[in-house]
Amino acid sequence: MTLHLDADRCAAFRSDLHAAGYRADAVRGLWGAMVDTAVGHGLTEPARRALAGRTDALAVLAGVLFLGGATSRASLDAALPALGAEGLVELGLAHLEGDLVVPDALVRPQDIADAAGEGHWWIASDLDEAAVGGPLPTGHVLGVGGASLTLAGLQLTSHVGRVLDIGTGCGIQALRARRAGDTVVATDVSERALAFTRLNALLNDIDGIETRAGSLFEPVAGEQFERVVSNPPFVITPRAEGVPAYEYRDGGMAGDDLVARFVREVGTVLAPGGVAQLLGNWEYREEEDGLARVRSWVAGSPVALDAWVVEREQLDPLAYAELWVRDGGTAPGSPAYAPLVQAWLDDFAARGVTAIGFGYITLHRPSVIPTLARYERLTGNIAGALGPHVGDALAAWQRLSAMTDADLDAAVLRVALDVTEARHHVPGVEDPQVIELRQGGGFGRVLDVDPALAALVGASDGDLPVGVLVSAIADLLEVDAAALRADLLPRVRELLFTGFLGFAD
Ligand SMILES: C[S@@+](CC[C@H](N)C(=O)[O-])C[C@H]1O[C@@H](n2cnc3c(N)ncnc32)[C@H](O)[C@@H]1O
Repeated sequence: MTLHLDADRCAAFRSDLHAAGYRADAVRGLWGAMVDTAVGHGLTEPARRALAGRTDALAVLAGVLFLGGATSRASLDAALPALGAEGLVELGLAHLEGDLVVPDALVRPQDIADAAGEGHWWIASDLDEAAVGGPLPTGHVLGVGGASLTLAGLQLTSHVGRVLDIGTGCGIQALRARRAGDTVVATDVSERALAFTRLNALLNDIDGIETRAGSLFEPVAGEQFERVVSNPPFVITPRAEGVPAYEYRDGGMAGDDLVARFVREVGTVLAPGGVAQLLGNWEYREEEDGLARVRSWVAGSPVALDAWVVEREQLDPLAYAELWVRDGGTAPGSPAYAPLVQAWLDDFAARGVTAIGFGYITLHRPSVIPTLARYERLTGNIAGALGPHVGDALAAWQRLSAMTDADLDAAVLRVALDVTEARHHVPGVEDPQVIELRQGGGFGRVLDVDPALAALVGASDGDLPVGVLVSAIADLLEVDAAALRADLLPRVRELLFTGFLGFAD
């Protein structure tokens, strides 16, 4: 079903959704936490049962727009008094079958909270597996999923000029980017995805988002952006007969070539000082470390780049294959399941793949030469949106790059509010065996530190400069002050990057 964009109808739709209180928490309240989890797992029957017999606007809209179920024209007219059932059909979001209105898309509420404040959106996308009742069509336009929210949360929150969102899908990253950016160019190979992005911008009354069709950097060749964001189609997929190529998750290349190409080429559209943030998968091959491969992609960029790559998770080929076969709507036990999983295993075996990494890639185009090259595995608990933390880390690194050790001696630091210290003692022994610093926010890092560093962090209360504290700690521990300073300062730099410490000014 083709979408027909119409600003007046979108405004009427928005006012109806608003009046019905069609918000994420209200919908959850309709069916409760457990049923909500079931919906997240693609099991919608419990939610349908919870709505049975209800005729209020919120319940009708949840049934049609959230779950993708049909309803009578009269009940939808009552739930959408300004738009009407016919308006929903005219927008291309539903069709009529006699007296029934049958949705052709989902429109789900989405909460958003960031530096610009709290907000609520409604995001239209194609019907999901549960609504379709089987494998998805290959041209499916994805709704907001876990990866979408991860990248939306990772996006830097400071104000910026031009932002590029590659592979915009329903437009969630573009909408998010527009909260910080003056203008956003959103690209996709899928015309239907671009239509959803335009519709979602209209529905949420957001201007300044331009959509362009084309693959990767083609639609913006020769242009530069201060920020690039992308949740690209990174899913590694066998290029074999009978394996569906889902446009929404698979860029049509072999192995992890799409992410490799993205990393190699993104520098060409980054303005000096610009930052690119993307999610990706990378393969571990026999005798080839996955993060080392990402490093080689960064090195292959014609524009030298700073890089911070965080691997969050690793899967073995079987777990990866099963994850993505199931994600396409093919259930374990169905006839297609085993051949599809085998196709994935054969594909991985052909390249000697032993594991697949998933994580976040942050690239920065320096004005002079790159100084940041962090490739790390961080699997700690992440409590909230990471954007502010990533922004603080990049700001600390830029400030530190310009600081000599003498400057750092003179700096006054403060321990971050989310840091706690745990000391583990052998029973009966006074001195601790292990001292741990734990971070409640950010990447939830846990560090083993020695007594000198623990003392420095503990004393960093925004009062005395680092150099004074180091001398006092050297006296206390009866060690050479110069040697202690040489040992501590690089680690203080690290703690400033990772957010355990901050500058007091
Ligand atoms: C994983 S979805 C991400 C959608 C959305 N940005 C989000 O975060 O939820 C990837 C998107 O990339 C698009 N895509 C696939 N191949 C592409 C290519 N070669 N160039 C640009 N976009 C592509 C797909 O159509 C899809 O909309």
